Amino acid sequence: MPFFGWQDKYNVGVPGLDEQHQGIAGMVNNLYDSIEQNVYDDKTVGSVLIPIVECLKYHFQTEEKMMVEANYEQYHYHKSLHDRFTEEIMQSVIRIKKGEKVNARDILILIRDWLLNHISEEDSKLAAVLNDTPQFKKK
Ligand SMILES: [Fe+2]
Ligand SMILES: [Fe+2]
Repeated sequence: MPFFGWQDKYNVGVPGLDEQHQGIAGMVNNLYDSIEQNVYDDKTVGSVLIPIVECLKYHFQTEEKMMVEANYEQYHYHKSLHDRFTEEIMQSVIRIKKGEKVNARDILILIRDWLLNHISEEDSKLAAVLNDTPQFKKK
């Protein structure tokens, strides 16, 4: 079974967001496979996490922009969850940049589990509102 295989039930029904979620899952999954196959040594394994963190940050900005445009009531709460998670992951990136050893596998597990929980708890609520907002309605 893939480490982070995408399943239809993870889709929230907003194409732009589903594509981004799926893209991040794909990156996380590929990186996990590469680690399992010992493609990276201890020195390089941390740095390959950085593009994933960049994609996560970009994705959070996309959602936050949509929330503002849709006057989403839970904007501050939802954004605070993004911010807290970004901060947590950034701490690992800082350790990587300092040359400390990080367990990339553990970080990938954290990202996968956080994302799946966040998508089903929060992004799905946001998607329901977006799909009721004229400019985001599915075409
Ligand atoms: Fe999301
Ligand atoms: Fe979100």
